[in-house]
Amino acid sequence: MSEERNRDWWKKAVIYQIYPRSFQDSNGDGIGDLKGIIQRLDYLQELGIDAVWLSPVYQSPQDDNGYDISDYQDIDPIFGTLEDMETLIQEAKKHNIRIIMDLVLNHSSDEHRWFKEAKKSRENPYHDYYVWRDGEEGTPPNDLRGCFGGSAWEWVPELGQYYFHQFSVKQPDLNWENPKVRQEIYQMINWWIDKGIGGFRLDVIDRIAKEPDKKITDNGPRLHEFIREMSRETFQKAELITVGEAWGATPEIAKLYSNPDGSEFSMVFQFEHIELDQQEGKEKWDLAPLPFLKLKQVLARWQKELYQCGWNSLFWDNHDLPRIVSRWGDDKEYRTESAKMLAVLLHGMQGTPYIYQGEELGMTNVAYPIEEYRDIETLNMYQERQEKGYKECDIMASIYAKSRDNARTPMQWDSTASAGFTEGTPWIKVNPNYTEINAKQQLKDPDSVFACYKTLIQLRKTYEVFADGAFELLLENDPEFFAYTRENQQEKIFVICNFYGKTCDCPLEENWREMNLLYGNYQSIEMECTYQPYEARIYYLKK
Ligand code: GLC
Ligand code: CA
Repeated sequence: MSEERNRDWWKKAVIYQIYPRSFQDSNGDGIGDLKGIIQRLDYLQELGIDAVWLSPVYQSPQDDNGYDISDYQDIDPIFGTLEDMETLIQEAKKHNIRIIMDLVLNHSSDEHRWFKEAKKSRENPYHDYYVWRDGEEGTPPNDLRGCFGGSAWEWVPELGQYYFHQFSVKQPDLNWENPKVRQEIYQMINWWIDKGIGGFRLDVIDRIAKEPDKKITDNGPRLHEFIREMSRETFQKAELITVGEAWGATPEIAKLYSNPDGSEFSMVFQFEHIELDQQEGKEKWDLAPLPFLKLKQVLARWQKELYQCGWNSLFWDNHDLPRIVSRWGDDKEYRTESAKMLAVLLHGMQGTPYIYQGEELGMTNVAYPIEEYRDIETLNMYQERQEKGYKECDIMASIYAKSRDNARTPMQWDSTASAGFTEGTPWIKVNPNYTEINAKQQLKDPDSVFACYKTLIQLRKTYEVFADGAFELLLENDPEFFAYTRENQQEKIFVICNFYGKTCDCPLEENWREMNLLYGNYQSIEMECTYQPYEARIYYLKK
């Protein structure tokens, strides 16, 4: 394999995200763990994925389910031991699966040794590892707010100072201006690389270069300088896949992050399409219908802009987002069809697809009473909006639509108690539809959502055009169809999706008889031009 091909192995890869807490429990304590993941490697290999991105398993007080790390070089006992992690890396390798770890570098836990030291005195060598400002109790330095609600400043009376936190009070922001902080981080990353880690997902990386006095939180002036330094000192020494989480990325910024010269990351997660179904300028909880033409425009623009000068990540779901089939498909009558349609639409595009656990089964959102929710963001919002006098039913409607817990209910393995996730009491309630939607049932069914994902993964590995073909949007203003082509020198594919639940004639006038139907989500096509509810097809032409 040439060096170039090797370095870019991830261009043909499909990645699977595991939220360890909710994937598979091995010891009956109701919390998923590393041994549980090891038990399920055969399942992942059957699906055909190349790598697993693990949400954080480091030592953590779990204020934000592990995104608050108290020791970057150890595993939290709820998930297992460092030895289990090493076993997972080795066993995964035997299944041709690489392990991608989640790196949370914008902040640590307030229970991290550095922060405990930092709080001791202004002279402590670790004090400057965090972001402090003098002030008076009750008058924070400014009105910046944290992403989970409340002020971004927390008062520490012993020091007469505030510390800065963009997330919960238990997630103090690290001070990247301090070169010692950066060096410690690089050493830690290299330590994991030496253990055989295949890559990293970099949590809220666009927020590391903050300048709170100027109210700059994301995309700070030194952001790309810091990232390039980190990349040079760590990732570039190995063939790693790296993906930065960047809510505030524009295509221009994404081209920096995913520059083909390898100076920063392999790719980024951008969220422009994800933010379309909310009221403009408001929060994600302020619901709005999906503007379908806008969705086409946004996805097409990213496809075009990064072509040959960057690299996209393709995703609908993750541990922070509602389930796509409930969100933009139909989780009732056409659950299977719409889940597959959404998969086809995404996996035909250029970029590296990410599948979030359960997405490959068409798992759905939940609607629980408030006591059943566990997520700090959801619970903070609930309280805040109650205090502001919002109506209970409106708050709950927002939670049903957007709560992060929609994605965090246990993986549905089979129809036994607790969906085969645990023999104990699960930390969060299992979605009651597990008797009907589960992996065991779908593995037997050649027509399942699982089978569709499996096929799409294989197609990407079989036909070059999925990796390198240029993208062209078709039917830009059509209110029902999402259609596009991908084309390279030798091959062309047409991806045509009826995005809604009505039978519709597709206005495209190609000669389909000249083409092969590579994939269709209905067993039979009634008429070439007539698309059944949520019907999706991929046609292929060898030139
Ligand atoms: C990212 C994570 C999210 C977490 C936050 C703070 O957005 O995906 O789960 O709460 O960062 O670390
Ligand atoms: Ca467990």
